[in-house]
Amino acid sequence: MPRPKVFVSRRIPEVGLNAISAECDVDLWPDRLPPPADELKKRAKDCDGLVSLLTDRIDGALLDSAPKLKVVSNYAVGFNNVDVPACTARGVCVGNTPGVLTDATADIAVTLLLTAARRIGESAADAKSGKWLTWEPLGWLGQDLTGRTLGIVGMGRIGFATAKRLHNGWDMKVLYTEQIPRPEAEREFDARRVELDELLRESDFVSVHVDLNSSTKGMFSSEQFAKMKRTAVFVNSARGPLVDQAALAETLRSGTIFAAGLDVTEPEPLPPDHELYKLPNCVIVPHIASATVETRNAMARLCANNLLAGVRGEPLPNWVNPEVADKRR
Ligand code: GLV
Ligand code: GLV
Repeated sequence: MPRPKVFVSRRIPEVGLNAISAECDVDLWPDRLPPPADELKKRAKDCDGLVSLLTDRIDGALLDSAPKLKVVSNYAVGFNNVDVPACTARGVCVGNTPGVLTDATADIAVTLLLTAARRIGESAADAKSGKWLTWEPLGWLGQDLTGRTLGIVGMGRIGFATAKRLHNGWDMKVLYTEQIPRPEAEREFDARRVELDELLRESDFVSVHVDLNSSTKGMFSSEQFAKMKRTAVFVNSARGPLVDQAALAETLRSGTIFAAGLDVTEPEPLPPDHELYKLPNCVIVPHIASATVETRNAMARLCANNLLAGVRGEPLPNWVNPEVADKRR
């Protein structure tokens, strides 16, 4: 049997690439930037497998031009870049990399929360630029964390790990929104499931951990920010389009909330002249939540395992669309 052909849309850690190359003929996109859509289409044309990143759009048109494609292995836990129903309809398996990036992502959520609450971006810039004149009793005053209320929007794996850190470390009370109760969160940190309105009104910190889909897109806009406390800190480490950024900018400018920390934006990259960068109470990092050596290696292993299972016709270890099983190519 000929070796399967796969396209890998960016250089991922060696541990993943090596596992893939051991069984497949690999066409690796060598650039730092993603392949343009037409290039992706061209490269995927004769492939049995595809390793995609969240910056690659995998849609029906691409799938139609790749009739042999058996598997799309997304190097991410989120898969909003992949049209999963279109894959399922064509018998194409989809894999993702959950679990291994939970701790790294929760660490970034907490980092952004602390950074925004304690005005680290602003005060570090002031120190460097000569605005640190003396020890000021009223300078750079932030918000305390201890004993305050944390609102977790989406108590999945990452929401849970974030709540765990902040409840155990800072004694925070935990509120959460979720379609179904999460008994483990209620048991471990006395978390209380509430409607989003109540969470926004009661929380001192709001951290977002939901998937991006048609029902969550734009779920944070002026109306939601207006319900939050003036001292509140908003953190998004999930997906940029969950937030109406113009509304967030106005909210931060007018002091409707205290500060925000963002690991994700829309678009990505957020252009350097964007208004959010000009606000001293907004800290933005370039989608780095899973960016640790160990985490990216673990993601590469999962990604390779999904890809290899897909080309071999085996069940994917992390299978987004297992319902495709009886009609896969
Ligand atoms: C990163 O955002 C991911 O979904 O893995
Ligand atoms: C601050 O540095 C203090 O000693 O209170």
